[in-house]
Amino acid sequence: MSIHIYGSPEELAGAAASEFAARAGEAIEESGRFAVVLAGGSTPRAMYGVLARDYADRIDWGKVHVFFDDERTVPPDHDDSNYKMASEVLLEHVPVGSVHRIRGELPPDEAAEAYEEELRTFFGTEEVPRFDLILLGVGRDGHTASLFPQTSALEVHDRWVVANPVLKLDTTRITLTVPVINAALAVHFLVAGEDKAEALGEILEGDADPRAYPATLVQPPGGSEWMLDRAAASELS
Ligand code: 6PG
Repeated sequence: MSIHIYGSPEELAGAAASEFAARAGEAIEESGRFAVVLAGGSTPRAMYGVLARDYADRIDWGKVHVFFDDERTVPPDHDDSNYKMASEVLLEHVPVGSVHRIRGELPPDEAAEAYEEELRTFFGTEEVPRFDLILLGVGRDGHTASLFPQTSALEVHDRWVVANPVLKLDTTRITLTVPVINAALAVHFLVAGEDKAEALGEILEGDADPRAYPATLVQPPGGSEWMLDRAAASELS
């Protein structure tokens, strides 16, 4: 894995947008399209803003196909919807080729099945889909996507998308599974804020139990890139 530390969340957002554009350029040149998975939560929001503002004319957006790591069980116009956040900040501002949202308004198992089917159709294969880039965040409890500590989704290897009951939040989330994340050509973690420092210490330098810190399960063959602000990196040696 490679770790990059930036002075502020703004610098992190700028660097992450630039990496996104570089990956998009490479993928489009090689295969004519860029299949990218967006992260939810607050950290990527700033990066999406930079993409909409500074990269509107610098990425061949018509060849960009957008997917999501996870979704909350809410309709797409709900303030908690990851789709809503990405739409408002990025997708309404650039002419992307296609957007594939997780239908959080459906019963969670149905939403997961429908999304898996959508991936199967897009990639046209029964093999685990290989995204060009998956963006991920990390929660202060060590979760990534909606792979929360001690939840059933951590053990799932024969599905691409599952409904994951999260008892401590008294909800169910819909999430990509570990095999899909680990099949990606590139994985970028974006993590900002001091409240993430302890979890990052465990994940990046500790001997963390993967069930307690699910982000450690992310191990794509090409390695993952960790983009952190100084506060999030404050407990790293
Ligand atoms: C979500 C996520 C989740 C997120 C982390 C970090 O839907 O919440 O996809 O995995 O990336 O919780 O979120 P913040 O950036 O808001 O801290």
